[in-house]
Amino acid sequence: MQNRYEQAFQQAMEKFRRTAPLAAEENMIPYKSENGRWIPSPYDGNGWWTGGFWPGLMWQFYAASRDAFFLEEARRTEALLAEEMRVFIHLNHDVGFMYLLSAGADWKLTGNEQARQDTLHAASLLMGRFNPAGFIRAWNHPSQAGFAIIDCMMNLSLLYWASRQTGDPRFAHVADIHAQTALREFLRPDGSVSHIIEFDPLTGRRVREHAGQGYALGSQWSRGQAWGLYGFTLAYMNAEKPEYLKAAETIAKNFIRHIRPDGLTDCDFCQPDSEERIDNIAGAIAACGLLELEKLTENQAYRAAALRLTDGLLDHCCDWTDQRLGLLTRCTASYHDDGAGRHTNITYGDYFLTEALAKLRGSDPMLWR
Ligand code: GLY
Repeated sequence: MQNRYEQAFQQAMEKFRRTAPLAAEENMIPYKSENGRWIPSPYDGNGWWTGGFWPGLMWQFYAASRDAFFLEEARRTEALLAEEMRVFIHLNHDVGFMYLLSAGADWKLTGNEQARQDTLHAASLLMGRFNPAGFIRAWNHPSQAGFAIIDCMMNLSLLYWASRQTGDPRFAHVADIHAQTALREFLRPDGSVSHIIEFDPLTGRRVREHAGQGYALGSQWSRGQAWGLYGFTLAYMNAEKPEYLKAAETIAKNFIRHIRPDGLTDCDFCQPDSEERIDNIAGAIAACGLLELEKLTENQAYRAAALRLTDGLLDHCCDWTDQRLGLLTRCTASYHDDGAGRHTNITYGDYFLTEALAKLRGSDPMLWR
């Protein structure tokens, strides 16, 4: 008998084999699904930070099946993202998310040389965002020249990858400078992490923290906690600095303490008890990070927590019908701004749930490095 993770992975693959052609018909990159339709990103078209998750999902299914259907769908959207490097204006530090899971995955799984060049191009763009005062700039608004965010820990993998590819240590050096800043400025004594820290862009001096997508200043936005957990785990896998592993474990322990009894994840670990606001994307990301942490440390508690999270998602929040084109429900983009989606299906939730299932069945190609 198949175990439930194998079964869920197969069911997910069949579901997307049925629903992906509807995105191809419109030549769009799905951001979420609602009312039987794929919806593109609400902001910045294909240049929005989430564009890589759809091709990443297709590459996960391709790695498991070698079915050309998934390769073609991944490459259709990889081409749209490659065009965004020429447009340029929408791109920010999230080129790691966008290009590791699209062009980077293509190169990794097929050896496509143009895809390798595109991934190196993306790494060079990320290098261009480095402020020698000690951090990688997150966003482009002129008022945000000093903003760095915890999510960037995931994007650093693109830099470590580029150093390995080129033999040029600059990329990894910049990643390490940013990671050391994140260790010093984002990680709090209780094992939680801040979402946004604003620095003086001239001196690198810390100016203030911002609540960002969380509930309030000083609170614990759960997706930010998950980015920190998985991001520091990846930094350790890339650079083997013990302080990164220690940070990943510290953040993991805090995250695990906040997993709900039903295995789902609140949008913010400090939100009022009266507020039912779930972000299942956070749980799916954390499950992926915890499964990698278990491999690094052989601590079974991380695997047990990853299974609690994955089981919670499978038990309560997967829509296997075709009424909804995507899979994972109750995803929330941001605590206070519902514009990008609240308690709905969002593609990067589908990506991380699928990555977790792929890890559990042994087919994950590890697209982050
Ligand atoms: N990286 C942006 C977010 O998690 O919403």
